[in-house]
Amino acid sequence: MIKYITACAVALFLFGNVSAQNKNETALQAKISTIIKKMTLEEKIAMLHGNSLFSSAGVKRLGIPELSSDDGPLGVREEIKRFDWTTDSATFLPNGSAIAATWNPAMANKYGIVIGQEANARNKVVMLAPAFNICRAPLNGRTYEYYSEDPYLNGQLAIQAVEGIQSQHVAACIKHFAANNQEVNRSSINEEIDERALREIYLPAFKAAIQQGNAYTIMSAYNKVNGYWCSENDFLLNKVLKKEWGFKGAVISDWGGVHNTIAAAKNGLDIEMGSSGPYDQWYFANPLLAAVKAGQVSEKIINDKVRRILWVIYHTSLSGHHPEGSIATAAHGKAAYDIASESIVLLKNDVHLLPLKSNVKSIAVIGDNAIRTFGLGGYGAGVKAKYEITALAGIRARFGQTANIKFAQGYKANYLANNTDEQNAGSDKPNQALIDEAVSLAKTTDVAILCIGSNREYESEGHDRKTLALPFGEQALVDAVTAVNPNTIIVIMAGAPYDINEIKKSNHTIVWSWFNGSEAGDALADVLKGVINPSGKMPFTFPVSLNDSPALALNSYPGENLNTTYKEGILVGYRWYDTKNIEPLYCFGYGLSYTNFAYTNLSTDKKNYKLNDKIAVVVKVKNTGSFSGKEVVQLYVKKVNSSVFRAEKELKAFKKIATTPGKTAVVSMNINVSDLAYFDDTQKKWVVEPGEYKIMAASSSKDIRQVTSFYVR
Ligand code: BGC
Repeated sequence: MIKYITACAVALFLFGNVSAQNKNETALQAKISTIIKKMTLEEKIAMLHGNSLFSSAGVKRLGIPELSSDDGPLGVREEIKRFDWTTDSATFLPNGSAIAATWNPAMANKYGIVIGQEANARNKVVMLAPAFNICRAPLNGRTYEYYSEDPYLNGQLAIQAVEGIQSQHVAACIKHFAANNQEVNRSSINEEIDERALREIYLPAFKAAIQQGNAYTIMSAYNKVNGYWCSENDFLLNKVLKKEWGFKGAVISDWGGVHNTIAAAKNGLDIEMGSSGPYDQWYFANPLLAAVKAGQVSEKIINDKVRRILWVIYHTSLSGHHPEGSIATAAHGKAAYDIASESIVLLKNDVHLLPLKSNVKSIAVIGDNAIRTFGLGGYGAGVKAKYEITALAGIRARFGQTANIKFAQGYKANYLANNTDEQNAGSDKPNQALIDEAVSLAKTTDVAILCIGSNREYESEGHDRKTLALPFGEQALVDAVTAVNPNTIIVIMAGAPYDINEIKKSNHTIVWSWFNGSEAGDALADVLKGVINPSGKMPFTFPVSLNDSPALALNSYPGENLNTTYKEGILVGYRWYDTKNIEPLYCFGYGLSYTNFAYTNLSTDKKNYKLNDKIAVVVKVKNTGSFSGKEVVQLYVKKVNSSVFRAEKELKAFKKIATTPGKTAVVSMNINVSDLAYFDDTQKKWVVEPGEYKIMAASSSKDIRQVTSFYVR
């Protein structure tokens, strides 16, 4: 801390308050050039690689502070290895797919602001968040960290998360660039992805986060794309990111994701990070110094990397009015609550059991997930949550005054991410004694709330799930409890799609929650009580069967001989199910409310548009039920009679609106005609086809309420 403050003070003394100059890019670049001229080659090289698990060197004599970082994305990670802190607890924020389920960019912004403020309180300059790789294969162990299966939804959320973080003068590090879509062999797999799929599916959210969100840093992924490691991928880093998109910040490697000094240096990587020393042996340490001295890497390349890092530093720790930050405040808890309460998805409410009526006098809360916390667990980044309200605690707080609440564990989650398969064997076997206990309890209560799903051990960085099946023998518990209590509510807490065919068939009430942060239990209980009307929508498709999903149907996941070809091309997520007419279990964008919404009068401001036009779309949405509520209005577009292969429809805009009973919201959204383009692989450019387009206003990707058309001439 003292070191950090001293470094900042020296820098301010030497270079003055640069906040004004920051506005002037040219002046800042000139300032950076002056600094670079003062630096020795050794000092420059020291800035290009880690000097601890989460930092790289500054230049003390010039007042350049080191670049400290921390994970993301669930909150500011606890200190590991370097310090023995006891004051490193933080707000645990809802996971990526929960944020995506809000379909509300304002929530992503709230998330970002909390992360930024807490990062400042912990003196972190770079937050390794947000993470928004596309959910390609539902088994991916990090699906819970990522957002959705749709590039547009991801992009809109990523822009706001980045803006939120950076509003606090903390750099966002968007990750993992690119296509880190599986954990199986993540550090050795080569992914063959055609350029159209890359441009239309895997890159747009990164582009949006850079060009619209102005992300200061980006993390290169572990995997190879089209034959080259992402940390030395000339196409991705130099050509697309830096040249085409004009990225001015720094490319940081994933931890231990560098393979070659010269290739990485020339092909766009700026900082090498990793987990352990000796740091001077790393590719971007002594070997890079030697390569420069031997003339294999020019000093111009080194200067460019240093320039980028200094640019990041001058927008963050040396920005002149760098805020102090705050950690785990009540306001941060409220933000976590707001996000969680908009993320919960009501999947089924056939008998209108929800919201629970006030005559409910006894509740059996059943399931390990009712008492489990999700801030930590598994391999990879978590948060030492300052506090975390479990489902049981939330239900007790919200219903304890009016109902007698009892708990039974129902199942045990004997599974650890770091265990071998042998050690984890048998974890899916039902525990009959716990089931019997749960059944005896459920027989005696008005309502049973079953809290099942997965946890942070079962869904984890470093491995993918093997099946979509619910773990820990949960189905047997569900069946047994449902058989004795007709008012059974299934609450599933997980971050990725699961096989819930049986539950969908046999249960009338299903609620989906997530690894929903510090306030998860309160938000859930408020949804059950009707204080919150659920408004979350699924950010990914739930397949009926695993083999319905594109990568698995085409046998292109997880690959063979460390190679996988993305045979589905652009048909990822609902684009695949819709185009191939495969009925999903729950479709992209699905989620119920305690009220209903009627869509009318979809219109566009014109019938004919030119390439540079904006299409102004309006649709009326009336709340026809008796609860106030929020609806996510989704706009999908389809090219009629396209001359090229295209998906059945693509999400092009969405808006979350709030209405009260009987009221009609007039919902306006804009679509740029240029955003209707497809990427022409042979001409290597974006092309907007002339002709007719169908535009659909929808409550989910399969629930199209209004259709109209327009033309591009
Ligand atoms: C993960 C990154 C993370 C880094 C540092 C890697 O294993 O892939 O997402 O930021 O570790 O913890």
